[in-house]
Amino acid sequence: AIERRVNELLGQMTLEEKIGQLNLVSHGPPLRWEDISEGKAGALLNFNSAPDVARAQALARQTRLKIPPLFGLDVLHGFRTQFPLPLGEAAAFSPRISRLASEWAAKEAAFVGVNWTFAPMADLSRDSRWGRIVEGFGEDPTLGAVLTAARVEGFRKGGLAASTKHFAGYGAPQGGRDYDTTYIPRAEMYDTYLPPFRAAVEAGSASFMAAFNALNGEPSTANPWLLTDVLRRQWGFDGFVTSDWVGIGELVNHGIAADGAEAARKAILAGVDMDMMGQLYIKHLPEEVRAGRVPESVIDESVRRVLRTKFRMGLFDRPDIDPSRSDAAFPSPESRQAAREVARETFVLLQNRGDVLPFGPGVRSVAVVGPLADAPHDQMGPHAARGHKEDSVTILEGIRRRAQGAGIAVNHAPACDLFCRNTDGLQAALEAARRSDAVIAVFGEPQELSGEAASRAHLELNGRQAEVLEALAATGKPVALVLMGGRPQVLGPVAERIPSILMTWYPGTEAGPAVADVLFGDVSPSGKLPVTWPRATGQLPFYYNHLPTGRPTKPDNRFTVQYIDEAITPLYPFGWGLSYTQFAYSDTTIAQKRLDAGQMLEVAVSVRNTGAREGQEVVQLYTRDPVASRSRPLRELKAFEKIALKPGETKRVTLRVPVESLGFHLDDGTTLVEAGAIQVFVGGSSLAEPAGEAEIVRTFRIPPMERR
Ligand code: IFM
Repeated sequence: AIERRVNELLGQMTLEEKIGQLNLVSHGPPLRWEDISEGKAGALLNFNSAPDVARAQALARQTRLKIPPLFGLDVLHGFRTQFPLPLGEAAAFSPRISRLASEWAAKEAAFVGVNWTFAPMADLSRDSRWGRIVEGFGEDPTLGAVLTAARVEGFRKGGLAASTKHFAGYGAPQGGRDYDTTYIPRAEMYDTYLPPFRAAVEAGSASFMAAFNALNGEPSTANPWLLTDVLRRQWGFDGFVTSDWVGIGELVNHGIAADGAEAARKAILAGVDMDMMGQLYIKHLPEEVRAGRVPESVIDESVRRVLRTKFRMGLFDRPDIDPSRSDAAFPSPESRQAAREVARETFVLLQNRGDVLPFGPGVRSVAVVGPLADAPHDQMGPHAARGHKEDSVTILEGIRRRAQGAGIAVNHAPACDLFCRNTDGLQAALEAARRSDAVIAVFGEPQELSGEAASRAHLELNGRQAEVLEALAATGKPVALVLMGGRPQVLGPVAERIPSILMTWYPGTEAGPAVADVLFGDVSPSGKLPVTWPRATGQLPFYYNHLPTGRPTKPDNRFTVQYIDEAITPLYPFGWGLSYTQFAYSDTTIAQKRLDAGQMLEVAVSVRNTGAREGQEVVQLYTRDPVASRSRPLRELKAFEKIALKPGETKRVTLRVPVESLGFHLDDGTTLVEAGAIQVFVGGSSLAEPAGEAEIVRTFRIPPMERR
């Protein structure tokens, strides 16, 4: 029925009306409100209030065909109520948590009329220098695929169609520099970078956004292999693709188009259906069609994709938004509760020497030190949509509330300014520390240092933070470092001097209560690292699932893989994160050791909480194909499950992996599954213990089209 309605409508449209549907324009200049009533803006972005949406809807109703606009916005981790940034959310290793956060973000945005989000970001990244690593799920394709799908589903449930971005390879720019060139062999694209995007197609992402960068010399915005061969032909995607912001015009800068007309032609012919903010389609495509350089059938197909999406979203059958609606309805007690729950699942306890955390009954006073303790704006992180800092409960405030109930004194002293350049407050902070039983030091990256266009060449703690932390440690008081930021930061001697470090990413509106829940032991930390944590910036790019080499590291042999001036290992590996309790793994069994096409590798393991507190563990299954026709990674995460265990409790966890996922890709997208042994590792991080072997009994291939 939808296809019939699409074709009927398309049959009535003039060329100009069709191209109007392919134009995506932001609130503010160059948009003129008349563009909407003249049918020149089929999609709008950055409309984030009900009165503006209602006004645009009323203008769209004045057009001949009354086609409702899309209202898109970067709703990444909350609309008014701020949830943790996606990289932090990934540390929860929980599709349930990802769905919960996205559903709330969507519900609040949809309440004021937004119906489309430029999220999730499905760009895998192995390089923390890249500022946008904060917007994704980290370095692993399996984790990325599971969480990208969960986010798409959560957004849809809350009322937003997803536009998964940035297709593709945007997370691997050379040198970690945002927007820079990417080189990724096609087989590697299929194995590593594309699975989260494919998962988005399967989860029902309504659209995709082309990436800014060039992939292997071909800008993604005019890349027929990505946009047509892979996305449409191989994966069967029938929604639409938008460019990124003026991405089509940037084809001139990329040096593959002489002018705007050629850029528009190349983009639409490659498969970019919608022009975000370039105004190049509306300006040049009518003439390109009339001159026969772009067939009208290509325009029709793009418009069909846009209309199909609008019908699927139900936009033609919905009433317009009530302009009296306001996002002041949020945060509500329920959204705050959800934000607090999500935030505390994302915290990663990196180290906890001497069990400084959680604070026990002996701690009657705490010094809260560091500029990010009282940073209502920064705790929301970059891309905070309609987040208001006034809604934030700061870490200081959360600790005060929790301490007050328990009769614990709080001595606050920031020690330095936000960027920690000026340490005039250090003496006061040291005095506060000396007066207290324990120190909570809240440091890290102010949000301006993270996100789009925030690539960093130095990942050391910025400003004089290391110096301040050293001075705090020298007081002899137990210090817990609560670290904020959008990426792993290089800790250097701080990791030696400070016994306990809790990575909290950017926790959002409810940072304070969530951090207090964990510091005081009401909840055990349960996050695991979605990225490898380097010891030095020079180790980047750095990731756990790398290939073996002919010269594996041997500390006593210089002519093996190593640095002469830094350890070869990370400071904390992928999948790492401590709890206040301990877990013991036992009785691992592999259900069926000989595996054929269509079967599942099924691994069961018993996990026991051997400590005295309740906790959650992320049970992780890794595999390795030790002998294949191509080098295969030393380890690859294939499945995981987060479980909750009471003290003394044991649970049997079964993880399943389709045999097809144990193969690898060829450059044309064929999956090749080779006969032979598969090693299995099970545990609570990428250091998981060997747990036996299975055998694939025969070699088989799956052509790209058949894996749909
Ligand atoms: O969605 C974003 C994208 O990630 C970067 N450029 C602008 C877009 C719309 O705001």
